[in-house]
Amino acid sequence: MKKILVTGGCGYIGSHTIVDLLEHGYEVISADNNSRSTEKVLDAVEKITGKKVKNYTVNLCIYDDTYAIFQENPDISGIIHFAAYKSVGESVEQPLMYFENNLNSLINILKCADEFGVDYFVFSSSCTVYGNPDQIPVLETTPQKPATSPYGATKQMGEQIVEEAIKASVTKAILLRYFNPVGAHPSNLIGEMPLGKPANLFPAITQTAIGKLPMMQVWGNDYPTKDGSCIRDYIHVSDIAHAHTLALGYMMNSASAEKCSIFNLGSGNGYTVLEVIAAFEKISGMSLNYQLGPRRAGDVIAIYANSDKARMELGWVPKLGLEEMIRTAWNWERAIQ
Ligand code: WQD
Repeated sequence: MKKILVTGGCGYIGSHTIVDLLEHGYEVISADNNSRSTEKVLDAVEKITGKKVKNYTVNLCIYDDTYAIFQENPDISGIIHFAAYKSVGESVEQPLMYFENNLNSLINILKCADEFGVDYFVFSSSCTVYGNPDQIPVLETTPQKPATSPYGATKQMGEQIVEEAIKASVTKAILLRYFNPVGAHPSNLIGEMPLGKPANLFPAITQTAIGKLPMMQVWGNDYPTKDGSCIRDYIHVSDIAHAHTLALGYMMNSASAEKCSIFNLGSGNGYTVLEVIAAFEKISGMSLNYQLGPRRAGDVIAIYANSDKARMELGWVPKLGLEEMIRTAWNWERAIQ
C-alpha cells in the first residue's frame, strides 16, 4: 500500500482528497499546522472511510520540522501539496505573508522530496495563474497574463519552482490548476469551513441564506458579460479530489516522458454570479438577500476551462453538475448549524 503525504490535509480540498485516496487503497498521512483548519476534520474523514489519518501539526516553513516528518516516514511514495494561504483579498493586504508562507513551505517540501527520493509530487495550483485571459475557455497552453493578486503570483511562482526543482531530482510532478472548487461531500461530514466572513461566492450565498450573514453583495454587475456579473467555472470539490488520485495513478503507470505535466480541472461551463444566485434560489426555494455592489479589486472578468487534456490523459470525468454543487453546499451549511 503506497503512502501519500497530504499537506494541508485538514483543509477543504485536502480533506476531500484524503477521503478519495483512502477509498482507492492508499495509506495517507497529513501535515497541517491547523492555523486555518482543525484536526477534527480527520475524525470526520474516519467516519466516512473507517480509516484513521495521522496529522503532523507542523509549520512547513520550518525546515527541520518538515524534515522530521520524512525521517519518521521514509516510505512516503507521493506528496500532494495543498498547504498554502488562499485568500485573494487577504493576499492584496498582506503580500509578504503570502510569499513567505506559500513559497517557503513549498521549497521545504521539495527539498525533502529530493532528499528522500520521493517518487511523485502533485502541486495544488489554480486557474488564477492565467490572470485575465484573452481567450476563453483556457487551455493549459494559454499564455499566462500577470497575476491579478499576490495569491495568484504565489501560484505562478510555485509552478515555476516545482518545474525547475524536479528537473534536478528523481521526482515526477503534476500541476493541477483548479478552477472554482465548491460544494461538499455528500455525507455532510466534511465541507468548506471559511474562517470569519467568507470571501468566496458559495459560502457567502449559503451563509446569507441561513441567516449567518444579513445579506451579501454581488461584486459588480457592469462587466462585459451576459448579465454584467463575472463568469467562473465552478467544479465540485469531490470531482477535484478524485483528479488527485487519478494524477498519482497517471504518474505511477504511464511512461509519460514529461517529468512535469499540467492539467486544468474545470467543468468547462461558465456561470455568472447572478446565474448561480438564481440557481440557488430555485433549488433552495428561498429568496436570497443580495445587493448589487461595486467591483472587487483583483477579480477576473470571465474564465472557464478547457479540461479535455485531463479527460483524455487522466480519464477524469466530472460527475457533479451545478445543481449538486449547490445542493451539497446548502446541505452542508444546514448540517453545521
Ligand atoms: C467568484 C465570483 C466574485 C463573493 C478565488 C481564487 C481561486 C480559488 C477560489 C483557492 C467573483 C463573486 C464572491 C461575494 C460576489 N482560491 N462574489 N460576492 O475569486 O473566482 O477565485 O477563490 O482555491 O484560486 O482565485 O472565487 O468565490 O471569491 O468569487 O459577487 O460575496 O463571485 O466577485 O466574481 P474567485 P470567489
